[in-house]
Amino acid sequence: MCGITGYIGKNNAIKVVMDGLESLEYRGYDSAGIAYICDNKLNIIKEEGKIINLKNSIDFNTKSSLAIGHTRWATHGIPSKTNSHPHSSNKFIVVHNGIIENYLELKEELLKNDYKFESDTDTEVACAYIDFLYKSDKNILSVLNKASKIFKGSYAFGIICTDDLNHLYALKKTSPLIIAFGNDENYIASDIPAILKYTNKYMLLDDYEIAKIESSKIEVYDSNMNLVDKKILEFEGSIESSIKCGYEHFMLKEIHEESEVFVNTVKNYLDDNFKNIPDLSKYNKFHIVACGSAYHAGLIGKYLIEKYSNIPTLVEVASEYRYKKNFYDENTLVILISQSGETIDTLACLLKAKSDNIDTLSIVNVFGSSIARESKYVLYTKAGCEIAVATTKAYLAQITLLALITMYLTNNKDIETKYISKLIDEEINKTYEDISLYISKCKNVFFIGRGIDYALGMEGALKLKEISYINASAYPAGELKHGTISLIEEGTPVIAISTDNSLLEKTISNIKEVKARGAKVIFITTSKIDGDFYDYKIEIPKINDLLQSIITIIPLQIIAYEVAKYLGCDIDKPRNLAKSVTVE
Ligand code: AGP
Repeated sequence: MCGITGYIGKNNAIKVVMDGLESLEYRGYDSAGIAYICDNKLNIIKEEGKIINLKNSIDFNTKSSLAIGHTRWATHGIPSKTNSHPHSSNKFIVVHNGIIENYLELKEELLKNDYKFESDTDTEVACAYIDFLYKSDKNILSVLNKASKIFKGSYAFGIICTDDLNHLYALKKTSPLIIAFGNDENYIASDIPAILKYTNKYMLLDDYEIAKIESSKIEVYDSNMNLVDKKILEFEGSIESSIKCGYEHFMLKEIHEESEVFVNTVKNYLDDNFKNIPDLSKYNKFHIVACGSAYHAGLIGKYLIEKYSNIPTLVEVASEYRYKKNFYDENTLVILISQSGETIDTLACLLKAKSDNIDTLSIVNVFGSSIARESKYVLYTKAGCEIAVATTKAYLAQITLLALITMYLTNNKDIETKYISKLIDEEINKTYEDISLYISKCKNVFFIGRGIDYALGMEGALKLKEISYINASAYPAGELKHGTISLIEEGTPVIAISTDNSLLEKTISNIKEVKARGAKVIFITTSKIDGDFYDYKIEIPKINDLLQSIITIIPLQIIAYEVAKYLGCDIDKPRNLAKSVTVE
């Protein structure tokens, strides 16, 4: 996934675009670039690596009123200055988020028309193709409309044409793009944080729509080239959600927001007597589909929904679900979970279910995101902007909402919000430095648990490996002896989780099996039990089973954070990752 920004107006376009790129850096950070117009001349500056490298190459005193910028997560072509955006071709300069799937076919046609290419990217081909269409049609809107129907795949484009420096153009299909309104200045961006410093008024471009933007006016055309009226939205959150507010990392800040997120999510559904949750009584089967941490949240949902409401619930990784035979019917509800609401594999599953006339409900954090807009029902998680690539507060909001859905299904309104919020606050302020320091010196870490604790172990393992780069994996506690236990050697850290008293004895037996083989055991439990089967014990408060996971996940998030900090990793922007994966 990449981040794009653009500006046209009376202020310094370079500063505005660079501010925007910095707040979008979580979307991708292999390389970055900016194109700006100064004295009617086009300038393009691109640098490999983080945005700071680009900032160091720019003279911010340069006056410009029109600029576009891009921060890249490489899809086609290695991270390099040549492959970074903006890309240009004669009269056109573009920044792009997404994948043009038919770019090779288009490139062939362009090569036959004497176009030359410097980069390996699909974006440079798309830019050249727009220029190619422009050679026979000098109406820029008409050219972009044609291109929008020729390009296959996903795209959000910011476009400058040197024949029309009074306008900034934008168009999208599947990839997110917002148009924001200022006073005699306007903006485009992949996501809200890029413009929050300047305005909170924006609109969402729909697929195949084209925006023609000048400093004092915005026109949006549909795929039939008709002007359309767009709803103006106001972002509810604050600028604080897109800055660190004194925390060293966004991840730590977002962990510290978890009790507020829990309260907001509960209030949004329970206070209205579940009015925001649609009638689900017609469904006798759920399919939960998601990726990464959202998938792990889905597993928690499965355990709760099946245990308390007896509705069979399948949970599948979206990239598998979309290609397999699905057994669903009019009484199946496909539930999509996604923080960003833009994950392409999850979106694809949603669109497949819709095409099969299956009802869909999405649990999403970003208002108006693609998945939210395409679903029959959408339940927002109210976690606010989550910037750190490793999700924490949004995951906690997802498992909170899944617990609330279970309570709705079982007509249970009994939740001690204040008490649990206080417990969350206590847990997020604990540290585990001796454990984290020990783990930071290890190459492999294992997480084990039974039932819902196994699902939590999966999330704990993902958190640890994605920000510390230590190999971490989770296993059902009873499964380890079927092979993996061969990897346990003297000092191997095993994080054992047990919050279900009915499975405690069994889990302790599994812990003793690894301890006997030299493991260093970190025992995370609600149990008061003592013994020599562990090296470290993290005792967490016991609350009702429906919400227990909300407490249990916190030490796992904190340990991952502390380990990565000891190792000096780039915690908010781990290598190779992006906040939302909008490519397959
Ligand atoms: C989690 O920390 C990762 N950032 C990743 O696994 C993420 O959960 C996954 O890519 C799904 O993203 P989504 O929730 O925005 O769809």
